[in-house]
Amino acid sequence: MTIPETPASPTPLLQMRKIRKTFPGTVALASVDLDVYAGEVHCLLGENGAGKSTLMKILAGSYIPDSGEIRIDGEPVQFAHPLDGIRAGISVIYQELDLFADLTVAQNLFLGHSPSTGGIVHRRERRQRAREYLDRVGATFSPDARVADLPIADQQLTAIARALTTDARIIVMDEPTATLGEADVEKVYDVIRRLVADGRAVIYISHRLDEIATIGTRITVLRDGVNAAKYPVAGTDAERWISDMIGDKKSELTEHRSRRTLDGELALEIDRVTIPRVLDVRDVSVRAGEILGLAGLGGAGRSTLLASVFGAQKAQMRLRVFGRPVKIGSVRDAVRHRFGLVPESRKTQGLLLGLSVARNAGLAALRGGSALFPREREQRRTGPILKQLSVKAASPHQEIRLLSGGNQQKVVLAKWLARDTRILLLDEPTRGLDIGAKADLYRQVRLLAEGGAAVVVASSELNELMANADRIVVLHEGRKVGEFDPLTDSEQHISHAIISGRAS
Ligand SMILES: Nc1ncnc2c1ncn2[C@@H]1O[C@H](COP(=O)(O)OP(=O)(O)OP(=O)(O)O)[C@@H](O)[C@H]1O
Ligand SMILES: [Mg+2]
Repeated sequence: MTIPETPASPTPLLQMRKIRKTFPGTVALASVDLDVYAGEVHCLLGENGAGKSTLMKILAGSYIPDSGEIRIDGEPVQFAHPLDGIRAGISVIYQELDLFADLTVAQNLFLGHSPSTGGIVHRRERRQRAREYLDRVGATFSPDARVADLPIADQQLTAIARALTTDARIIVMDEPTATLGEADVEKVYDVIRRLVADGRAVIYISHRLDEIATIGTRITVLRDGVNAAKYPVAGTDAERWISDMIGDKKSELTEHRSRRTLDGELALEIDRVTIPRVLDVRDVSVRAGEILGLAGLGGAGRSTLLASVFGAQKAQMRLRVFGRPVKIGSVRDAVRHRFGLVPESRKTQGLLLGLSVARNAGLAALRGGSALFPREREQRRTGPILKQLSVKAASPHQEIRLLSGGNQQKVVLAKWLARDTRILLLDEPTRGLDIGAKADLYRQVRLLAEGGAAVVVASSELNELMANADRIVVLHEGRKVGEFDPLTDSEQHISHAIISGRAS
Protein backbone atom coordinates (compact mmCIF):
# COMPACT_ATOMS: atom_id res chain seq x y z
CA MET A 1 0.00 0.00 0.00
CA THR A 2 1.22 3.47 -0.80
CA ILE A 3 0.75 6.36 1.56
CA PRO A 4 -1.07 9.24 -0.12
CA GLU A 5 1.04 12.36 -0.55
CA THR A 6 -1.59 14.66 0.84
CA PRO A 7 -3.40 12.70 3.51
CA ALA A 8 -5.58 15.75 4.17
CA SER A 9 -7.34 15.44 0.84
CA PRO A 10 -9.90 12.67 0.88
CA THR A 11 -9.94 9.93 -1.72
CA PRO A 12 -12.20 10.88 -4.62
CA LEU A 13 -15.51 9.09 -4.51
CA LEU A 14 -14.99 8.23 -8.15
CA GLN A 15 -11.80 7.82 -10.14
CA MET A 16 -11.82 6.96 -13.82
CA ARG A 17 -8.38 6.37 -15.32
CA LYS A 18 -7.24 6.18 -18.94
CA ILE A 19 -10.66 5.19 -20.16
CA ARG A 20 -10.65 4.20 -23.81
CA LYS A 21 -13.62 3.32 -25.97
CA THR A 22 -13.74 2.84 -29.72
CA PHE A 23 -16.59 2.10 -32.08
CA PRO A 24 -16.22 0.97 -35.67
CA GLY A 25 -14.81 4.02 -37.44
CA THR A 26 -14.75 6.22 -34.32
CA VAL A 27 -12.50 6.70 -31.35
CA ALA A 28 -15.09 8.05 -28.92
CA LEU A 29 -12.65 8.16 -25.98
CA ALA A 30 -8.92 7.94 -26.58
CA SER A 31 -7.86 8.13 -22.94
CA VAL A 32 -9.84 10.02 -20.35
CA ASP A 33 -9.43 10.62 -16.63
CA LEU A 34 -12.14 11.84 -14.30
CA ASP A 35 -12.06 12.47 -10.54
CA VAL A 36 -15.22 13.27 -8.67
CA TYR A 37 -15.54 14.04 -4.97
CA ALA A 38 -18.48 13.54 -2.65
CA GLY A 39 -20.41 16.76 -2.13
CA GLU A 40 -19.59 18.34 -5.47
CA VAL A 41 -21.39 19.08 -8.71
CA HIS A 42 -18.84 18.03 -11.26
CA CYS A 43 -19.51 19.48 -14.69
CA LEU A 44 -18.48 17.66 -17.81
CA LEU A 45 -18.05 20.03 -20.74
CA GLY A 46 -17.24 19.45 -24.37
CA GLU A 47 -18.52 19.98 -27.88
CA ASN A 48 -21.10 17.73 -29.50
CA GLY A 49 -19.43 14.37 -29.97
CA ALA A 50 -16.58 15.04 -27.51
CA GLY A 51 -17.34 11.82 -25.64
CA LYS A 52 -19.29 12.97 -22.57
CA SER A 53 -22.24 10.60 -22.88
CA THR A 54 -19.98 7.70 -23.81
CA LEU A 55 -17.90 8.21 -20.65
CA MET A 56 -21.07 8.23 -18.56
CA LYS A 57 -22.40 5.09 -20.22
CA ILE A 58 -19.16 3.38 -19.25
CA LEU A 59 -19.56 4.61 -15.69
CA ALA A 60 -23.08 3.20 -15.64
CA GLY A 61 -22.02 -0.18 -16.95
CA SER A 62 -23.93 0.21 -20.22
CA TYR A 63 -20.74 0.19 -22.28
CA ILE A 64 -17.64 -1.82 -21.48
CA PRO A 65 -14.46 0.21 -22.04
CA ASP A 66 -11.69 -1.15 -24.28
CA SER A 67 -9.29 -0.34 -21.46
CA GLY A 68 -8.94 1.78 -18.36
CA GLU A 69 -9.84 1.58 -14.71
CA ILE A 70 -12.69 2.73 -12.49
CA ARG A 71 -12.39 3.08 -8.71
CA ILE A 72 -15.09 3.90 -6.24
CA ASP A 73 -13.87 4.96 -2.79
CA GLY A 74 -10.45 3.91 -4.02
CA GLU A 75 -11.55 0.33 -4.73
CA PRO A 76 -11.34 -0.94 -8.32
CA VAL A 77 -14.69 -1.96 -9.74
CA GLN A 78 -15.63 -3.67 -12.96
CA PHE A 79 -19.04 -3.31 -14.49
CA ALA A 80 -20.29 -5.77 -17.04
CA HIS A 81 -23.94 -4.78 -16.83
CA PRO A 82 -26.00 -1.69 -15.92
CA LEU A 83 -27.18 -3.47 -12.76
CA ASP A 84 -23.57 -3.55 -11.58
CA GLY A 85 -23.46 0.21 -11.84
CA ILE A 86 -26.69 0.58 -9.89
CA ARG A 87 -25.43 -1.75 -7.16
CA ALA A 88 -22.26 0.31 -6.88
CA GLY A 89 -24.39 3.39 -6.24
CA ILE A 90 -24.42 4.99 -9.68
CA SER A 91 -27.54 6.36 -11.25
CA VAL A 92 -27.70 7.94 -14.69
CA ILE A 93 -30.33 10.16 -16.23
CA TYR A 94 -29.70 9.73 -19.90
CA GLN A 95 -29.82 12.44 -22.51
CA GLU A 96 -32.21 10.35 -24.56
CA LEU A 97 -34.73 9.52 -21.84
CA ASP A 98 -35.10 5.78 -21.40
CA LEU A 99 -38.53 5.71 -19.84
CA PHE A 100 -41.16 3.17 -20.79
CA ALA A 101 -43.78 5.28 -22.49
CA ASP A 102 -46.66 2.85 -22.01
CA LEU A 103 -46.10 2.39 -18.30
CA THR A 104 -47.21 4.72 -15.55
CA VAL A 105 -44.89 7.10 -13.75
CA ALA A 106 -44.94 4.91 -10.62
CA GLN A 107 -44.14 1.79 -12.65
CA ASN A 108 -41.22 3.55 -14.28
CA LEU A 109 -39.92 4.84 -10.99
CA PHE A 110 -39.69 1.39 -9.44
CA LEU A 111 -39.09 -0.76 -12.46
CA GLY A 112 -37.29 -3.87 -11.24
CA HIS A 113 -37.44 -2.80 -7.60
CA SER A 114 -41.11 -2.32 -6.75
CA PRO A 115 -42.08 -2.89 -3.13
CA SER A 116 -43.36 -6.47 -3.16
CA THR A 117 -43.66 -9.73 -1.26
CA GLY A 118 -43.34 -13.04 -3.01
CA GLY A 119 -43.55 -11.40 -6.40
CA ILE A 120 -46.75 -9.50 -5.62
CA VAL A 121 -46.30 -5.78 -6.10
CA HIS A 122 -47.80 -3.56 -3.42
CA ARG A 123 -49.39 -1.03 -5.66
CA ARG A 124 -50.59 1.34 -3.02
CA GLU A 125 -47.18 1.47 -1.39
CA ARG A 126 -45.56 1.92 -4.76
CA ARG A 127 -47.87 4.80 -5.56
CA GLN A 128 -47.18 6.40 -2.18
CA ARG A 129 -43.45 6.12 -2.53
CA ALA A 130 -43.64 7.40 -6.10
CA ARG A 131 -45.50 10.44 -4.77
CA GLU A 132 -42.67 11.08 -2.29
CA TYR A 133 -40.01 10.97 -5.00
CA LEU A 134 -42.09 13.15 -7.30
CA ASP A 135 -42.47 15.68 -4.49
CA ARG A 136 -38.73 15.71 -4.06
CA VAL A 137 -38.27 16.93 -7.62
CA GLY A 138 -41.14 19.38 -7.32
CA ALA A 139 -43.37 17.42 -9.71
CA THR A 140 -47.10 17.78 -9.22
CA PHE A 141 -48.46 15.31 -11.77
CA SER A 142 -49.98 11.98 -10.75
CA PRO A 143 -47.88 8.82 -10.24
CA ASP A 144 -50.63 7.05 -12.18
CA ALA A 145 -50.15 9.11 -15.32
CA ARG A 146 -48.95 7.22 -18.35
CA VAL A 147 -45.52 8.53 -19.32
CA ALA A 148 -46.53 8.85 -22.98
CA ASP A 149 -49.29 11.28 -21.98
CA LEU A 150 -46.95 13.64 -20.14
CA PRO A 151 -45.33 16.67 -21.71
CA ILE A 152 -41.63 16.31 -22.29
CA ALA A 153 -40.67 18.46 -19.28
CA ASP A 154 -42.65 16.18 -16.96
CA GLN A 155 -41.04 13.11 -18.51
CA GLN A 156 -37.69 14.68 -17.69
CA LEU A 157 -38.74 15.19 -14.07
CA THR A 158 -39.88 11.55 -13.98
CA ALA A 159 -36.45 10.42 -15.11
CA ILE A 160 -34.81 12.53 -12.42
CA ALA A 161 -37.17 11.18 -9.75
CA ARG A 162 -36.39 7.66 -10.88
CA ALA A 163 -32.67 8.27 -10.54
CA LEU A 164 -33.25 9.10 -6.88
CA THR A 165 -35.14 5.89 -6.06
CA THR A 166 -32.05 3.69 -6.03
CA ASP A 167 -30.36 5.77 -3.34
CA ALA A 168 -27.34 6.34 -5.54
CA ARG A 169 -24.20 8.10 -4.31
CA ILE A 170 -23.18 9.28 -7.76
CA ILE A 171 -25.93 10.77 -9.89
CA VAL A 172 -25.21 11.58 -13.51
CA MET A 173 -27.41 14.10 -15.28
CA ASP A 174 -26.86 14.26 -19.01
CA GLU A 175 -28.48 17.50 -20.17
CA PRO A 176 -31.34 17.29 -17.68
CA THR A 177 -32.55 20.78 -18.41
CA ALA A 178 -32.45 20.75 -22.21
CA THR A 179 -36.22 20.35 -22.41
CA LEU A 180 -37.18 22.29 -19.31
CA GLY A 181 -38.52 25.79 -18.88
CA GLU A 182 -37.07 28.17 -16.33
CA ALA A 183 -39.34 27.18 -13.44
CA ASP A 184 -38.55 23.49 -13.86
CA VAL A 185 -34.84 24.24 -14.14
CA GLU A 186 -35.03 25.81 -10.68
CA LYS A 187 -36.62 22.60 -9.39
CA VAL A 188 -33.72 20.61 -10.77
CA TYR A 189 -31.23 22.96 -9.12
CA ASP A 190 -32.99 22.45 -5.80
CA VAL A 191 -32.74 18.69 -6.19
CA ILE A 192 -29.06 18.94 -7.03
CA ARG A 193 -28.31 21.20 -4.06
CA ARG A 194 -30.02 18.77 -1.71
CA LEU A 195 -28.18 15.80 -3.16
CA VAL A 196 -24.74 17.29 -2.73
CA ALA A 197 -25.55 18.72 0.71
CA ASP A 198 -26.34 15.12 1.54
CA GLY A 199 -22.79 14.06 0.64
CA ARG A 200 -23.57 12.65 -2.80
CA ALA A 201 -21.84 13.61 -6.00
CA VAL A 202 -23.58 14.90 -9.10
CA ILE A 203 -21.98 14.73 -12.52
CA TYR A 204 -23.64 17.37 -14.64
CA ILE A 205 -23.58 17.71 -18.40
CA SER A 206 -25.01 20.79 -20.09
CA HIS A 207 -24.33 23.05 -23.03
CA ARG A 208 -25.88 25.97 -21.18
CA LEU A 209 -22.86 27.58 -19.63
CA ASP A 210 -24.86 29.86 -17.37
CA GLU A 211 -26.07 26.69 -15.65
CA ILE A 212 -22.52 25.56 -15.05
CA ALA A 213 -21.72 28.90 -13.44
CA THR A 214 -24.81 28.65 -11.23
CA ILE A 215 -24.67 25.07 -10.05
CA GLY A 216 -21.16 23.72 -10.73
CA THR A 217 -18.30 23.08 -8.31
CA ARG A 218 -15.58 21.83 -10.64
CA ILE A 219 -15.22 21.26 -14.35
CA THR A 220 -13.62 18.63 -16.53
CA VAL A 221 -13.43 19.58 -20.21
CA LEU A 222 -13.26 16.87 -22.87
CA ARG A 223 -12.16 17.50 -26.42
CA ASP A 224 -12.22 14.83 -29.12
CA GLY A 225 -12.06 12.01 -26.59
CA VAL A 226 -9.23 13.33 -24.40
CA ASN A 227 -8.97 15.56 -21.33
CA ALA A 228 -8.59 19.19 -22.32
CA ALA A 229 -8.77 20.92 -18.94
CA LYS A 230 -9.81 20.64 -15.31
CA TYR A 231 -10.47 23.44 -12.82
CA PRO A 232 -12.88 24.82 -10.23
CA VAL A 233 -15.84 26.85 -11.48
CA ALA A 234 -14.93 29.68 -9.13
CA GLY A 235 -12.17 31.78 -10.62
CA THR A 236 -12.71 30.66 -14.21
CA ASP A 237 -15.27 31.89 -16.71
CA ALA A 238 -17.24 30.83 -19.75
CA GLU A 239 -14.71 32.33 -22.12
CA ARG A 240 -12.02 30.06 -20.73
CA TRP A 241 -14.31 27.02 -20.81
CA ILE A 242 -15.23 27.65 -24.42
CA SER A 243 -11.66 28.05 -25.56
CA ASP A 244 -10.77 24.77 -23.85
CA MET A 245 -13.74 23.05 -25.48
CA ILE A 246 -12.97 24.17 -29.00
CA GLY A 247 -9.18 24.17 -28.74
CA ASP A 248 -7.43 26.19 -31.39
CA LYS A 249 -10.33 25.97 -33.81
CA LYS A 250 -11.17 29.44 -34.96
CA SER A 251 -14.00 30.92 -32.99
CA GLU A 252 -16.59 32.94 -34.82
CA LEU A 253 -18.86 33.25 -31.88
CA THR A 254 -18.40 36.92 -31.34
CA GLU A 255 -19.45 37.88 -34.85
CA HIS A 256 -20.99 41.31 -34.78
CA ARG A 257 -23.85 42.10 -36.95
CA SER A 258 -25.26 45.24 -38.33
CA ARG A 259 -28.82 46.08 -39.10
CA ARG A 260 -30.08 44.32 -42.17
CA THR A 261 -32.40 46.08 -44.51
CA LEU A 262 -35.77 44.46 -44.33
CA ASP A 263 -37.67 45.39 -47.39
CA GLY A 264 -38.94 41.96 -48.34
CA GLU A 265 -42.61 41.32 -48.93
CA LEU A 266 -44.79 40.50 -45.95
CA ALA A 267 -44.58 36.71 -46.09
CA LEU A 268 -46.78 35.78 -43.17
CA GLU A 269 -49.30 37.97 -41.41
CA ILE A 270 -50.97 36.47 -38.39
CA ASP A 271 -53.98 38.70 -37.89
CA ARG A 272 -55.34 36.52 -35.16
CA VAL A 273 -54.88 33.03 -33.75
CA THR A 274 -57.17 31.90 -30.97
CA ILE A 275 -57.61 28.78 -28.92
CA PRO A 276 -60.17 29.41 -26.19
CA ARG A 277 -58.53 29.88 -22.78
CA VAL A 278 -55.09 29.09 -24.20
CA LEU A 279 -54.04 31.49 -26.88
CA ASP A 280 -55.14 34.78 -28.35
CA VAL A 281 -52.35 36.27 -30.41
CA ARG A 282 -52.90 39.17 -32.80
CA ASP A 283 -50.84 41.08 -35.28
CA VAL A 284 -47.61 39.20 -35.70
CA SER A 285 -45.99 39.42 -39.08
CA VAL A 286 -42.73 38.48 -40.70
CA ARG A 287 -41.22 39.58 -43.98
CA ALA A 288 -39.34 37.56 -46.52
CA GLY A 289 -35.70 37.80 -45.51
CA GLU A 290 -36.48 38.51 -41.90
CA ILE A 291 -35.68 36.53 -38.76
CA LEU A 292 -38.36 37.11 -36.17
CA GLY A 293 -37.65 35.99 -32.60
CA LEU A 294 -40.44 34.71 -30.37
CA ALA A 295 -39.60 35.12 -26.71
CA GLY A 296 -41.53 34.16 -23.61
CA LEU A 297 -41.53 31.97 -20.55
CA GLY A 298 -42.37 28.26 -20.70
CA GLY A 299 -46.11 28.08 -21.30
CA ALA A 300 -46.31 31.56 -22.83
CA GLY A 301 -47.70 30.03 -25.99
CA ARG A 302 -44.73 30.08 -28.37
CA SER A 303 -44.89 26.40 -29.32
CA THR A 304 -48.67 26.45 -29.49
CA LEU A 305 -48.61 29.45 -31.80
CA LEU A 306 -46.11 27.84 -34.15
CA ALA A 307 -47.93 24.50 -34.13
CA SER A 308 -51.25 26.25 -34.88
CA VAL A 309 -49.90 28.24 -37.78
CA PHE A 310 -48.40 25.02 -39.11
CA GLY A 311 -51.78 23.30 -38.94
CA ALA A 312 -50.60 20.82 -36.34
CA GLN A 313 -52.86 22.17 -33.65
CA LYS A 314 -56.52 23.14 -33.86
CA ALA A 315 -57.05 26.87 -33.64
CA GLN A 316 -59.12 29.64 -35.12
CA MET A 317 -56.92 31.62 -37.41
CA ARG A 318 -56.89 34.58 -39.72
CA LEU A 319 -53.68 34.41 -41.71
CA ARG A 320 -52.31 35.96 -44.85
CA VAL A 321 -49.46 34.54 -46.84
CA PHE A 322 -47.83 36.96 -49.24
CA GLY A 323 -50.84 39.21 -48.89
CA ARG A 324 -53.46 36.56 -49.67
CA PRO A 325 -55.79 35.20 -47.01
CA VAL A 326 -55.19 31.47 -46.56
CA LYS A 327 -56.91 28.71 -44.67
CA ILE A 328 -54.62 26.30 -42.89
CA GLY A 329 -56.50 23.41 -41.36
CA SER A 330 -53.85 20.75 -41.53
CA VAL A 331 -50.13 20.23 -41.83
CA ARG A 332 -50.70 19.32 -45.45
CA ASP A 333 -52.17 22.78 -46.09
CA ALA A 334 -49.19 24.39 -44.41
CA VAL A 335 -46.70 22.38 -46.43
CA ARG A 336 -48.56 23.29 -49.61
CA HIS A 337 -47.99 26.95 -48.77
CA ARG A 338 -44.36 26.02 -48.23
CA PHE A 339 -44.29 26.31 -44.47
CA GLY A 340 -41.76 24.27 -42.51
CA LEU A 341 -41.79 23.58 -38.78
CA VAL A 342 -38.99 22.16 -36.70
CA PRO A 343 -40.90 21.10 -33.60
CA GLU A 344 -39.69 21.31 -30.04
CA SER A 345 -39.78 17.58 -29.34
CA ARG A 346 -38.00 16.75 -32.56
CA LYS A 347 -36.23 13.77 -31.05
CA THR A 348 -39.45 11.83 -31.11
CA GLN A 349 -41.05 13.50 -34.10
CA GLY A 350 -38.24 14.17 -36.44
CA LEU A 351 -35.94 11.17 -36.67
CA LEU A 352 -36.03 7.55 -37.75
CA LEU A 353 -33.42 6.20 -35.42
CA GLY A 354 -32.70 3.04 -37.36
CA LEU A 355 -31.95 4.82 -40.62
CA SER A 356 -28.71 6.41 -41.71
CA VAL A 357 -27.68 10.01 -41.35
CA ALA A 358 -28.05 10.63 -45.07
CA ARG A 359 -31.49 9.04 -45.21
CA ASN A 360 -32.75 11.06 -42.28
CA ALA A 361 -31.43 14.30 -43.63
CA GLY A 362 -32.95 13.61 -47.00
CA LEU A 363 -36.34 12.32 -45.93
CA ALA A 364 -38.86 14.15 -48.01
CA ALA A 365 -41.85 13.80 -45.78
CA LEU A 366 -43.24 11.75 -42.97
CA ARG A 367 -46.83 10.79 -43.41
CA GLY A 368 -48.71 8.38 -41.18
CA GLY A 369 -45.43 6.93 -40.02
CA SER A 370 -44.23 5.89 -43.43
CA ALA A 371 -41.27 7.60 -44.93
CA LEU A 372 -40.97 8.65 -48.50
CA PHE A 373 -37.56 7.86 -49.70
CA PRO A 374 -35.06 10.59 -50.19
CA ARG A 375 -34.83 12.10 -53.58
CA GLU A 376 -31.46 12.52 -55.14
CA ARG A 377 -32.01 16.23 -55.33
CA GLU A 378 -32.62 16.48 -51.62
CA GLN A 379 -29.60 14.45 -50.73
CA ARG A 380 -27.52 16.72 -52.86
CA ARG A 381 -28.95 19.63 -50.98
CA THR A 382 -28.54 18.25 -47.46
CA GLY A 383 -24.93 17.17 -48.01
CA PRO A 384 -23.49 20.68 -47.82
CA ILE A 385 -25.74 21.64 -44.91
CA LEU A 386 -24.66 18.61 -42.89
CA LYS A 387 -21.14 19.78 -43.51
CA GLN A 388 -21.88 23.40 -42.64
CA LEU A 389 -23.36 22.29 -39.34
CA SER A 390 -20.28 20.06 -38.89
CA VAL A 391 -22.22 16.91 -38.17
CA LYS A 392 -19.84 14.44 -36.59
CA ALA A 393 -20.56 10.96 -37.92
CA ALA A 394 -18.30 8.08 -38.93
CA SER A 395 -19.95 8.22 -42.36
CA PRO A 396 -23.19 9.45 -43.93
CA HIS A 397 -24.36 5.85 -43.85
CA GLN A 398 -24.03 5.51 -40.10
CA GLU A 399 -27.27 4.87 -38.23
CA ILE A 400 -28.51 8.04 -36.66
CA ARG A 401 -29.04 6.50 -33.22
CA LEU A 402 -25.28 6.03 -32.93
CA LEU A 403 -24.61 9.76 -33.18
CA SER A 404 -24.13 11.93 -30.14
CA GLY A 405 -27.25 13.74 -28.95
CA GLY A 406 -26.24 17.08 -30.38
CA ASN A 407 -25.30 15.61 -33.72
CA GLN A 408 -28.72 13.98 -34.02
CA GLN A 409 -30.26 17.41 -33.52
CA LYS A 410 -28.14 18.81 -36.30
CA VAL A 411 -29.42 16.17 -38.70
CA VAL A 412 -33.04 17.06 -37.95
CA LEU A 413 -32.29 20.69 -38.51
CA ALA A 414 -30.44 19.95 -41.75
CA LYS A 415 -33.47 18.10 -43.00
CA TRP A 416 -35.64 21.17 -42.59
CA LEU A 417 -33.12 23.71 -43.65
CA ALA A 418 -32.62 21.84 -46.89
CA ARG A 419 -36.24 22.07 -47.90
CA ASP A 420 -37.61 24.65 -50.16
CA THR A 421 -39.54 26.51 -47.47
CA ARG A 422 -40.70 30.07 -47.75
CA ILE A 423 -41.81 30.33 -44.14
CA LEU A 424 -39.65 28.46 -41.69
CA LEU A 425 -40.80 28.03 -38.09
CA LEU A 426 -38.14 26.89 -35.64
CA ASP A 427 -39.05 25.89 -32.10
CA GLU A 428 -36.05 25.93 -29.74
CA PRO A 429 -33.65 24.98 -32.53
CA THR A 430 -30.45 25.14 -30.49
CA ARG A 431 -31.33 22.87 -27.60
CA GLY A 432 -28.60 20.35 -27.04
CA LEU A 433 -26.21 22.05 -29.44
CA ASP A 434 -22.79 23.13 -28.32
CA ILE A 435 -21.83 26.74 -28.60
CA GLY A 436 -20.02 26.38 -31.92
CA ALA A 437 -22.91 24.43 -33.41
CA LYS A 438 -25.32 27.14 -32.31
CA ALA A 439 -23.33 29.69 -34.24
CA ASP A 440 -23.25 27.34 -37.26
CA LEU A 441 -27.01 26.95 -37.07
CA TYR A 442 -27.73 30.66 -36.97
CA ARG A 443 -25.36 31.20 -39.86
CA GLN A 444 -27.43 28.72 -41.87
CA VAL A 445 -30.65 30.39 -40.82
CA ARG A 446 -29.27 33.75 -41.89
CA LEU A 447 -28.31 32.31 -45.25
CA LEU A 448 -31.83 31.02 -45.71
CA ALA A 449 -33.26 34.40 -44.80
CA GLU A 450 -30.92 36.12 -47.19
CA GLY A 451 -32.18 33.69 -49.82
CA GLY A 452 -35.68 35.03 -49.21
CA ALA A 453 -37.16 32.80 -46.51
CA ALA A 454 -39.17 34.30 -43.67
CA VAL A 455 -38.03 32.75 -40.41
CA VAL A 456 -39.68 32.63 -37.00
CA VAL A 457 -37.49 31.34 -34.15
CA ALA A 458 -38.95 30.56 -30.74
CA SER A 459 -36.29 30.38 -28.07
CA SER A 460 -35.94 30.51 -24.31
CA GLU A 461 -32.44 31.86 -24.72
CA LEU A 462 -33.00 35.57 -24.99
CA ASN A 463 -29.32 36.24 -25.64
CA GLU A 464 -29.54 34.11 -28.78
CA LEU A 465 -32.50 36.06 -30.04
CA MET A 466 -30.75 39.32 -29.19
CA ALA A 467 -27.81 38.24 -31.30
CA ASN A 468 -29.68 36.78 -34.23
CA ALA A 469 -33.22 38.07 -34.60
CA ASP A 470 -34.11 41.20 -36.53
CA ARG A 471 -37.13 41.76 -34.34
CA ILE A 472 -38.42 40.11 -31.18
CA VAL A 473 -42.07 39.51 -30.32
CA VAL A 474 -42.74 38.71 -26.67
CA LEU A 475 -45.60 36.44 -25.68
CA HIS A 476 -47.00 36.14 -22.18
CA GLU A 477 -49.76 33.79 -21.08
CA GLY A 478 -50.95 33.28 -24.61
CA ARG A 479 -50.93 36.92 -25.69
CA LYS A 480 -48.59 39.23 -27.49
CA VAL A 481 -47.02 41.71 -25.12
CA GLY A 482 -45.10 43.78 -27.62
CA GLU A 483 -42.43 44.01 -30.25
CA PHE A 484 -38.81 44.84 -29.59
CA ASP A 485 -35.75 45.77 -31.55
CA PRO A 486 -32.70 43.83 -30.33
CA LEU A 487 -30.36 46.53 -31.59
CA THR A 488 -31.93 49.35 -29.62
CA ASP A 489 -33.94 47.76 -26.80
CA SER A 490 -31.86 46.40 -23.93
CA GLU A 491 -31.92 42.74 -22.97
CA GLN A 492 -33.03 43.78 -19.51
CA HIS A 493 -35.95 45.71 -20.89
CA ILE A 494 -37.11 42.74 -22.99
CA SER A 495 -36.56 40.34 -20.10
CA HIS A 496 -38.82 42.46 -18.00
CA ALA A 497 -41.57 42.22 -20.61
CA ILE A 498 -41.13 38.45 -20.78
CA ILE A 499 -41.55 38.03 -17.05
CA SER A 500 -44.11 40.72 -16.25
CA GLY A 501 -46.19 40.51 -19.39
CA ARG A 502 -46.05 44.30 -19.70
CA ALA A 503 -44.33 46.18 -22.47
CA SER A 504 -43.40 49.47 -20.81
N1 LIG B 1 -22.89 3.16 -30.06
C1 LIG B 1 -22.10 3.91 -30.83
N2 LIG B 1 -21.67 3.45 -32.04
C2 LIG B 1 -20.88 4.20 -32.81
N3 LIG B 1 -20.44 5.43 -32.49
C3 LIG B 1 -20.82 5.93 -31.31
C4 LIG B 1 -21.68 5.21 -30.42
N4 LIG B 1 -21.89 5.97 -29.31
C5 LIG B 1 -21.21 7.14 -29.52
N5 LIG B 1 -20.55 7.09 -30.71
C6 LIG B 1 -19.68 8.16 -31.25
O1 LIG B 1 -18.77 8.55 -30.24
C7 LIG B 1 -18.53 9.97 -30.29
C8 LIG B 1 -18.81 10.55 -28.92
O2 LIG B 1 -20.20 10.54 -28.70
P1 LIG B 1 -20.88 11.02 -27.34
O3 LIG B 1 -22.33 10.65 -27.46
O4 LIG B 1 -20.14 10.50 -26.18
O5 LIG B 1 -20.72 12.60 -27.44
P2 LIG B 1 -21.23 13.75 -26.42
O6 LIG B 1 -20.01 14.43 -25.89
O7 LIG B 1 -22.16 13.19 -25.45
O8 LIG B 1 -21.95 14.77 -27.42
P3 LIG B 1 -23.35 15.61 -27.29
O9 LIG B 1 -23.01 16.91 -26.62
O10 LIG B 1 -23.73 15.88 -28.72
O11 LIG B 1 -24.34 14.79 -26.57
C9 LIG B 1 -19.42 10.49 -31.40
O12 LIG B 1 -18.64 10.65 -32.55
C10 LIG B 1 -20.47 9.41 -31.59
O13 LIG B 1 -20.96 9.37 -32.90
MG1 LIG C 1 -24.23 13.41 -25.17
